[in-house]
Amino acid sequence: MDRRLVLEFVRVTESAAIACSHLVGHGEKDEADARAVGAMRDAFDRVPIRGTVVIGEGERDEAPMLYIGEQVGPGRDDLPEVDIAVDPLEGTNLCAEGRPGAMAVLAVAARGKLLNAPDTYMDKIITGPEGHGVVSLKKSPTENVNALAEAKGRKASEITVVVLERDRHEDLVVELRKAGARVYLISDGDVAPSVATCMPDSGIDMVYGTGGAPEGVLAAAALHCLGGCFKGRLNFRNEGERERAISMGMENPEMYLELDDLVRGEVIFVATGVTTGPLLKGVRRIGDRLFLQSLAMRSTTGTVRWVETSVRAGRFEMYAKKS
Ligand code: FBP
Repeated sequence: MDRRLVLEFVRVTESAAIACSHLVGHGEKDEADARAVGAMRDAFDRVPIRGTVVIGEGERDEAPMLYIGEQVGPGRDDLPEVDIAVDPLEGTNLCAEGRPGAMAVLAVAARGKLLNAPDTYMDKIITGPEGHGVVSLKKSPTENVNALAEAKGRKASEITVVVLERDRHEDLVVELRKAGARVYLISDGDVAPSVATCMPDSGIDMVYGTGGAPEGVLAAAALHCLGGCFKGRLNFRNEGERERAISMGMENPEMYLELDDLVRGEVIFVATGVTTGPLLKGVRRIGDRLFLQSLAMRSTTGTVRWVETSVRAGRFEMYAKKS
């Protein structure tokens, strides 16, 4: 993939972030999501690729745009063929409720190199590079906390684990605390803290528990760029989801997934903050300009770019909330 595409993809997540930022805190999560999706879809038209959405807004019959299988980009034969995973608004509730950590995110890889994960759940353990050969979904939470603490040369009480605040995680949280770990509960948005496990100054050591499978693939793409550790296993709510995984090409849907089962080869990962969170600053208006922050990474070189952008706010008045 041409490295100049990185900045083109930053423009795509920036467009989505700007479009939904006008609805931060307005309690309208579906409308915020629709605006991010529409803006991202339009922005792809200007990126010189022949893209196929493999992780998107859902099946063709349930999503008008950025559905699985949709072609994006101008699509000319001379352009590179790529697979794309998108979440135009990761953390729809976070945006609607004005909470930290909503962002627009995408990952791009060569054809066939991203797991075509169905819209189901995934059990996940995510850490920075120190977790390789150390943490495992086959181990107990206590064992994983102790093993990661040892690998990082710290006490268990100095390990911070991010967990989605859900009833299904009650026992997990009790055990993690008993093991001595600090547990940070989040209401939504497990991609940002997953990426943050690889940022030494984030204070986040591990993301643990069950979250969205599509979000798992997006996080894995980032970890692939950063050398992080990802352990996953699809967790189906019903037989229909399991069959869907098989029809999408998974021979053994119950298998334990390593990072390279989710993402392989050259990958570009890009995210732009919508609300300020553990990874990124959100969209801010100062005077007549909007300020944005994005993270852009390429696995080939391991380059991590923090992109600060300011744009004239007037260009985006069409997204402003109508009162
Ligand atoms: P949305 O952006 O679709 O609202 O998803 C947010 C999210 O919190 C993800 O970050 C997480 O992986 C998933 O939802 C958890 O699902 P659930 O809310 O069903 O527990």
